Amino acid sequence: MSKQTVLTGITTTGTPHLGNYVGAIRPAIIASNDAQVTPYYFLADYHALIKCHEPERVRQSSLEIAATWMALGLDTSNAIFYRQSDVPEILELTWMLTCVTSKGLMNRAHAYKASVDENEQEGGADPDKGITMGLFSYPVLMAADILMFNAHKVPVGKDQIQHIEMARDIAGRFNHIFGEHFVLPEAVVDNNAATLSGLDGRKMSKSYNNTIPLFAPEKKFRKMINKIKTNSLEPGEPKDPDNCTLFSIYQAFATPAELDAMRVRYAEGIAWGEMKKHLFEYINDQIGPARAHYDELIQSPDVIEQALIEGAVRAREVSVPFMQKIRASVGIQKIRSL
Ligand code: TRP
Repeated sequence: MSKQTVLTGITTTGTPHLGNYVGAIRPAIIASNDAQVTPYYFLADYHALIKCHEPERVRQSSLEIAATWMALGLDTSNAIFYRQSDVPEILELTWMLTCVTSKGLMNRAHAYKASVDENEQEGGADPDKGITMGLFSYPVLMAADILMFNAHKVPVGKDQIQHIEMARDIAGRFNHIFGEHFVLPEAVVDNNAATLSGLDGRKMSKSYNNTIPLFAPEKKFRKMINKIKTNSLEPGEPKDPDNCTLFSIYQAFATPAELDAMRVRYAEGIAWGEMKKHLFEYINDQIGPARAHYDELIQSPDVIEQALIEGAVRAREVSVPFMQKIRASVGIQKIRSL
């Protein structure tokens, strides 16, 4: 089998949490070690501007997300690890794609539709109230991220599948008009990893404000674990692991044998306090060394910057000549080289 390009990005608007780790970063780092894979992992900072107009937050988040990938052992001499905004060809491609994307396709994008629905429920006169062109055409920017590097596989959460399908659509349309330039990408959804529960038992997500930061200082991390909601069963009463946030988080870290052993303890009525202690210690042991590395990296932003610059140089070795080809295919090129 020939090498497969795997590409994914994380929007730089928040602090990486346990859900990001088990759902996206951990599997991506594992995939990056496969010799059959060319990994492209990036900080989606242009995407951040769609929902966040706080420059300090975007800056801080970019630093934290980059430090997280590196602290967790992403081999940046192998993976092409870059900041989206360091590859200006992506924006140029966005325009080329915008010009073959039907507006109707974008009308169906769920992020846009959700905003329209909200406006309609509020009963105001303008269904597009507060909706920017950035939000509306965001799937085109995402398509450009993916098509720029002809990614075969795009690991994402379920909520992003629609965008990958749109990228396929847009690629097909462009290929049909201007020639076979783009690989049609496929979404890869890891069903085991996709849903980590948060503090309140709902899916761990920035938008629910129920996240546990991945690299919170140890004390704070312990506190957060202690805050996870449980039911009021007493120690000694049998408990159901399959309806338990603590167990579901444990599941994302422990081995099958450890899980079996824990099921027995649930049946025997393990106390919630005991389970929380165990969960804290278990995860803390796993991520402790990476946390120390993370703290070091955050203190040395130059090291992070250097890695990102090297990544951008490698990305542009691909994007610059490819964009030349794309420009020529649509008829935008020098009339004559002098
Ligand atoms: N929109 C994605 C998210 O919110 C992040 C993202 C941006 C992305 N560009 C991408 C993911 C390209 C995969 C490929 O999760």
